[in-house]
Amino acid sequence: MSSEAKRLVPLEWAGDHLRLLDQTRLPVEEVYLRQTTVQQVWEAIRHLQVRGAPAIGMAAAYGLYLGVRESTAGNFADFWRHVEEQADYLASSRPTAVNLFWALDRVKARVRQEEGQPIEEIKQAVLAEALAIQEEDERVCRAIGENLLTLLQDGTGVLTHCNAGSLATAAYGTATAPFYLAKERGWNLRVYADETRPVLQGSRLTAYELQRAGIDVTLICDNMAATVMAQGRVQAVVVGTDRVAANGDVANKIGTYGVAVLAHAHGIPFYVAAPFSSIDLDTPTGAEIPIEERPAEEITHGLGKQVAPDGIKVYNPSFDVTPARLITAIVTETGIYKPEELAGLRK
Ligand code: MRU
Repeated sequence: MSSEAKRLVPLEWAGDHLRLLDQTRLPVEEVYLRQTTVQQVWEAIRHLQVRGAPAIGMAAAYGLYLGVRESTAGNFADFWRHVEEQADYLASSRPTAVNLFWALDRVKARVRQEEGQPIEEIKQAVLAEALAIQEEDERVCRAIGENLLTLLQDGTGVLTHCNAGSLATAAYGTATAPFYLAKERGWNLRVYADETRPVLQGSRLTAYELQRAGIDVTLICDNMAATVMAQGRVQAVVVGTDRVAANGDVANKIGTYGVAVLAHAHGIPFYVAAPFSSIDLDTPTGAEIPIEERPAEEITHGLGKQVAPDGIKVYNPSFDVTPARLITAIVTETGIYKPEELAGLRK
């Protein structure tokens, strides 16, 4: 089977509900959830049943439709109030991935454009915008993959962290897009996937989806990255992002910063795959990016059993910020940029 046929789809609109792959059950079971309410979507985002910046944005856009489709508002002002309430609610699900806010703002802008149309038509426009976001994301990821491939060669060893894969996007992933495209081309990239403590997106999701697609992937624990680099097994690092600040600082899954430091120490290029929906020129530097802290249980009971003493103090930031100076390039759907070039993109 081709890698295309084996691709996992994290979410899709199924006519009257959102069909969501429950990523907390992977890699053991592929279970799909039937989401019919905005509350269900909020919970799914908060509890990582759907995760990864672009997928969070897409889920929120569909969630907004679910939140307003039953609205009984008889005029635009009342409908708009309802849209804002539901969008604010969805925006409270997770703080770091800017795609969540980007997608909600985009759907809200569409609603504004439709002012004057019958409310039922505006509701359909909300759904149409959510569908458009998902369709575009696939094209965007493919373009990011094409651009990343120009930086890699057949046989390159690539280390990635967390899951910026198909499971985090409409298709291909961002950081994983070159792996899928390389396979289409008949290249063999050798991928090393960090397991990504504490929630193990690398072992549960990246290793799973790449193996399923027939891509050469080797799982390592996070603390093995330095050794893998020192042994010359990887020639590039590619990661995704939850938010890129205007100065090129990058927020991504906790541990990314450490990988960037290691890559720098070993003279290995460190690439960030970033759709424009993840670039936040309104946030000046990484210091202003809100970093989510998640429950202590992810660390104390993370592997299905208690692995820390009762009552232990825990610090569990879910993301970190890699400073721009450690980033070789930011690879977007339109091209490859030095981190310091981003601020000029506003033009
Ligand atoms: O907590 P998660 O699983 O949502 O974190 C995901 C990441 O950090 C990804 O690398 C990022 O969202 C990019 S996904 C294309």
